[in-house]
Amino acid sequence: MRFNTLAIHGKDHKRNAENALNPPIYQTSTFVFNDIDHVEAVMSFKSDDYVYTRGNNPTLRLFENRMAALEHGNGAVAFASGMAAISSVLFSFLKPGDNVIIHRTIYGSSYSVATKLLPRYNISYTSVDLSIPENFERALKESADTLKVVYFESPSNPNLSIVDIRKISEIAHENGIKVVIDNTFATPFFQQPLDAGADVVVHSATKYISGHGDVIAGVAVSKDDAYIQRLKFDYMAEFGGVLSPFNAWLLLRGLKTLGVRMRQHEKNALAAAEYLENHPAVTRVMYPGLPSFNGYETARHQMSGFGAMISFEVQGGLEAAKKVINSLKLIQIAVSLGDCESLMELPAAMTHRGYDREKLAEFGLSESMLRISVGLEDVEDIIEDLKQALEK
Ligand SMILES: Cc1ncc(COP(=O)(O)O)c(C=O)c1O
Repeated sequence: MRFNTLAIHGKDHKRNAENALNPPIYQTSTFVFNDIDHVEAVMSFKSDDYVYTRGNNPTLRLFENRMAALEHGNGAVAFASGMAAISSVLFSFLKPGDNVIIHRTIYGSSYSVATKLLPRYNISYTSVDLSIPENFERALKESADTLKVVYFESPSNPNLSIVDIRKISEIAHENGIKVVIDNTFATPFFQQPLDAGADVVVHSATKYISGHGDVIAGVAVSKDDAYIQRLKFDYMAEFGGVLSPFNAWLLLRGLKTLGVRMRQHEKNALAAAEYLENHPAVTRVMYPGLPSFNGYETARHQMSGFGAMISFEVQGGLEAAKKVINSLKLIQIAVSLGDCESLMELPAAMTHRGYDREKLAEFGLSESMLRISVGLEDVEDIIEDLKQALEK
């Protein structure tokens, strides 16, 4: 089955007991055993029946199986948020004395986990611009014995930098290092990192997978079944960042339209990016689908579409950027992304507030960078709103 069919039906394509078109929401904390032999079979994993929703639940399992199928993995673990997925995966691979390499630009809270939380447990980090693979090789030489994980996003938040997943994975695996990638911006519709060699894909399912701005959720996917079991029972269930059955159901609903939404998001984004690139008040546009963008060639090869996140700079710096954002009429001022509504933010003041001010430039960010999540409104209306705000 192809992407959209899988997103709608899943691999199992089974009817539920009542022949309802949509799956029921198993809104239950616990499950009942038939007798003590049944207990023994389930507790020893001889049966995959259910015990307790913090370990597993049929609605969650449906969502996990669907995500595993879409990301070309063998298993997935659902989490209460993207951050629960990311922090659990990092903790699952790292122990005191280890080192993790993080890409120079990643989501603000992921950056905080790596740079503030992990060091408390004597796990160090090195921040590297992984869009140049030679930088990874160089950093590896300096910490080869202790380096255990390389973590990145591609396209990255907020400057859309592109990391060559295949190259980084090859180098990492030659050195016994695990590759973890956050695929939130691309979604499995445009990019399947496990096929390019990544070990684990994580998502903020809050974003395009939900697609409607009404869920906080996360998921991790891998081809390694044994790892997925370990992540589920030793980390998700023990840290306790479990997704609710209702949210799993909303995500299953969102997945059905992921393909059509991503196509339209991308179409709108390309038109908006081209408009911005030709606007005299705009000094720089970061969008992987523009041939002028640094990561365009790599993106073209490893993605089947460029997504719908754009960052840009306007003439006049921070004051002008504030004026643009304050002048918006249709586009909403908000963090998050991947919703039907177009959203704009100032990353340095919002999603990436945790980055040291003095280091923003070093990370390829600036206080005046604007980020837009291009929504599903009629693109003419999105562009008219950008036009009137830029004119101000
Ligand atoms: C790329 C990326 N990864 C992870 C997260 C965190 O996800 P959540 O808010 O679902 O915990 C975000 C949130 O904005 C994000 O943009």
